Amino acid sequence: MIPAIGHYIVNSGGKRLRPLLCLLIARYFGYQGDRHIPMSVVVEFIHTASLLHDDVVDSSYQRRGAPSANGVWGNQASVLVGDYLFSRSFQMMVSDGDMEMLRLMSDVTNALAEGEVLQLSRTFHLEMSEAECLEVIERKTAVLFSAAAEVGSHVSGQPANVVAKMAEYGMCLGVAFQLMDDALDYLADEETAGKPVGHDLEEGKITLPLIHAMHSDEALRKRVHSIAERDAYEEGDREWVRERVEAQGGAEYAMKRAIDYAERAKKALPDFGDVDIRNLLARLADFSAKRPY
Ligand code: FPP
Ligand code: MG
Repeated sequence: MIPAIGHYIVNSGGKRLRPLLCLLIARYFGYQGDRHIPMSVVVEFIHTASLLHDDVVDSSYQRRGAPSANGVWGNQASVLVGDYLFSRSFQMMVSDGDMEMLRLMSDVTNALAEGEVLQLSRTFHLEMSEAECLEVIERKTAVLFSAAAEVGSHVSGQPANVVAKMAEYGMCLGVAFQLMDDALDYLADEETAGKPVGHDLEEGKITLPLIHAMHSDEALRKRVHSIAERDAYEEGDREWVRERVEAQGGAEYAMKRAIDYAERAKKALPDFGDVDIRNLLARLADFSAKRPY
């Protein structure tokens, strides 16, 4: 079952931005060794493990344009194979033998789990502020992007101040990426997104497009309140909420904030290193904030 689910996930594609960041950043600093390769696998394994768990937690049955692993093999298999990948990534780090790497990745996975629990504790929390929303985003998503960037610069032997700058680049890019994910839940169609859309509120996730739209729309706030009380959508809720969020420019606001974060990411890039790769890293930040899927 482990190879079956593993192959299914590998063949399902995905943007693979996290390992890409790790590999590109090692090359950006002229790294000549090969440690960045298993370390980028570690980052992607942790990401995949977290998605296997996340689709169970979110009762979501579609990902990357196909049925998610829990949709095909069921919840138990998804959780357990997620555990396998997660523990495998720690075995790989122990083989690599760098205590600094283990410290970084254990902190990151702990933050990931904390972020998810924080999000769960804020289910249907209508008073969610923009700052709280960004705190969840940093912990549940951006920390892993930040770690990928940190790993790439750490293996290439960069001093602490440069590693910290790259961690900031990854963190800001990760926030931009998740803000865009939250905007796409209100903007994209299911085929383009490759996963269910209009699903965040159904799961009780109060994200930035909705927070912004509720500020100036009392009818929307009331409707969201009654969805929260029922803890379920009724016929027409999804479309009505999407239209109101669109009318209030909620997704546009989240996208604007994503662009701000992408700009911050680009500013964090040091002005030495391979120029072509620097340009690619800048384009990756832009892509995270403007992606259509
Ligand atoms: C996707 O968010 C989910 C995450 C970014 C993190 C999931 C983390 C965990 C379940 C806990 C940590 C687990 C391990 C094994 C380390 P989303 O639901 O907003 O995005 P989606 O629309 O792509 O599902
Ligand atoms: Mg999810």
